[in-house]
Amino acid sequence: MTEAGVAGGQKDERDPSELTPEAAAAELERLAAVLGRANAAYHTHDAPEISDAEYDALKRRNAAIEAAFPDLKRADSPTDQVGAAPASGFQKVRHRVRMLSLGNAFDDADVADFDRSVRRYLGREAALGYTAEPKIDGLSLSLRYEGGALVEAATRGDGAEGENVTRNARTIGDIPGTLRDAPEVLEVRGEVYMSHADFEALNARQAEAGQKTFANPRNAAAGSLRQLDAEITAARPLRFFAYAWGEVSAPLAETQMGAIERLGALGFVTNPLTRLCEGIEEMLAVYRAIEAQRATLGYDIDGVVYKVNDLGLQGRLGFRSTTPRWAIAHKFPAELAWTRLEAIDIQVGRTGALSPVARLQPVTVGGVVVSNATLHNEDYIAGRDATGAPIRDGKDIRVGDWVQVYRAGDVIPKVADVDLSRRPGGAVPYVFPETCPDCGSEAVREPGDAVRRCTGGLICPAQAVEKLKHFVSRAAFDIEGLGAKQVEQFHGDGWIREPADIFTLEARYGPGNLTELKNREGWGAKSAENLFDAIEERRTIPLNRVIFALGIRHVGEAAAGLLAQHYGTWKAFEAAVTAAEVGRGPEWEDLIAIDGVGQVMAASLVTSMQQEAERASIDRLIAELEVTEVRRPDTEGSPVAGKTVVFTGTLERMTRAEAKARAEALGAKVAGSVSAKTDLLVAGPGAGSKAKKAAELGIETIDEDGWFRLIGAE
Ligand code: IVH
Repeated sequence: MTEAGVAGGQKDERDPSELTPEAAAAELERLAAVLGRANAAYHTHDAPEISDAEYDALKRRNAAIEAAFPDLKRADSPTDQVGAAPASGFQKVRHRVRMLSLGNAFDDADVADFDRSVRRYLGREAALGYTAEPKIDGLSLSLRYEGGALVEAATRGDGAEGENVTRNARTIGDIPGTLRDAPEVLEVRGEVYMSHADFEALNARQAEAGQKTFANPRNAAAGSLRQLDAEITAARPLRFFAYAWGEVSAPLAETQMGAIERLGALGFVTNPLTRLCEGIEEMLAVYRAIEAQRATLGYDIDGVVYKVNDLGLQGRLGFRSTTPRWAIAHKFPAELAWTRLEAIDIQVGRTGALSPVARLQPVTVGGVVVSNATLHNEDYIAGRDATGAPIRDGKDIRVGDWVQVYRAGDVIPKVADVDLSRRPGGAVPYVFPETCPDCGSEAVREPGDAVRRCTGGLICPAQAVEKLKHFVSRAAFDIEGLGAKQVEQFHGDGWIREPADIFTLEARYGPGNLTELKNREGWGAKSAENLFDAIEERRTIPLNRVIFALGIRHVGEAAAGLLAQHYGTWKAFEAAVTAAEVGRGPEWEDLIAIDGVGQVMAASLVTSMQQEAERASIDRLIAELEVTEVRRPDTEGSPVAGKTVVFTGTLERMTRAEAKARAEALGAKVAGSVSAKTDLLVAGPGAGSKAKKAAELGIETIDEDGWFRLIGAE
């Protein structure tokens, strides 16, 4: 950290009335620096550097000079800084360089206008160089490094003042704790975000634990970063792209692109889609290329940001009140649209969940025609959340209403809002059914569950079909030629009612009776034979797939894998869950002791496996199969048993999934980011911030070949 005296200039102890305006300004500058540093030491580092009395005296002197020279009061005046933590629980941080937002362009013409006005401002005819990069849909964060050490991280807040989230930022793997060869003062700015995969997994974990789920990755990222308990942030998979900077004591480069490259070299993750372009045609071409990749990026972006590449020109262009003149965000078409709600249908899922679906007058949302959208559950329609608190200001949704449809990336469209001013006269509140629309059984809501469920179980045809679709899905039995469509057809005709029937299909409608199948619409002799072959092939199947295929609520693919690893054989698994009593006894304790199996999941598993009709159906299935053992990891003598391993960079001899599976089979824990808990980093070419962080933390780092040698695979 810099010396306060150096940062703040010479001390001037004269009475305020004796100061010239110049001397007063200098003294205010010095006091702002000294007090700023004292604040950081006290609140950020929990390591006060001056006594409370000295602090108060400095603040009083600052206030006295401001009173004598009101015009000289600084934007970052210590007087306006809150000494204690604000109500939100986070200390406020005044940004030394304001965190600005960007102007928007909504179409090609807006971008052309932007380019023209930039060139006019600079008095330049020729085409200009710009960088073009994705606009990340997360939340911006400013990271202050002094002497190469991360000293403060702050959210944007209102641009002038944000929240101090230093402790939380330190838990993010993409954010280096120290930098080598960095300017003495460097504020790196960028976006904190969460990937789609991490978002889905987080929501699944939250739901499993009975905790609140997030509406989208942006909310999840914001909620995770703004946690008062940094331990919680640490457990959330946040990422960070660096794309800008605030205060710097020495320039990073001469161009935007050069600065981004420098940030990359310092160990930050920068967006790999960043491109240099010259003139409007190239800018728009990059925009379209990025837009085309949007759905497959794995994280949300909402546009493309263009920035003048020459930093000298950026300096000349400067800022309007809240936006730079040298940059603009070219937004993707709105992913919101208004349309009429024509009907509400109820779909019955595999676990009996009744899900309301909005049937809409077709409308284009972000370039896709949408005619169905989810309405989540009955509370959502009624305008309240699971705790009974109002959502949409308590507005309910009725058939005939004008509703706002929202779509982001690949996510299922949602009904987000309703326009009460356009509600038709006769519209009545929606009454959620209390019986299953498919089988007529009672549909009940368990306390604490947002979802109403059909109690029909196996007698409910809708549940049966959904269970079958799940059974043949990719991570389950994955039978070639038997997809969702065929399952519906066979179920409709009564050929397949439950999973076991798939394996007796050939005996019933097969060889001798092949005509039966081959005469059906869509089937010929060849495809019928292929189907029977594919079914036969799956008669022998590993335990994890069988457990997942059963479609037991809360037991997903990962959990099925854990259970299979733990019990090894169907016999052992079946015996244990049959003997288990929910909430007590050795089998229960053994079950919930599995890392990754929670109480809710365990209870669901035990109850389903002990439910008479369901169990009989499962037993009929198992009688048809040969379930192969999933070998428990042989961790005896494993050099990595119990160790936490992180893989980074490009792996050339194995995929990421293989690397993880192999390490886990050897008893290692595989983590996504480097922390003090990491024991070993396996770094392939192109390893960036993780390798750097591991080096800083003194964590053993090896390459891929080293890994193979270590595990004795060479
Ligand atoms: S540059 C002075 N680049 O968009 C310009 N911002 O609408 C500083 N954002 O507050 C911002 N991706 O949170 C920039 N590649 C990117 C961005 C980006 C996302 C966010 C940022 C900013 C907001 C402005």
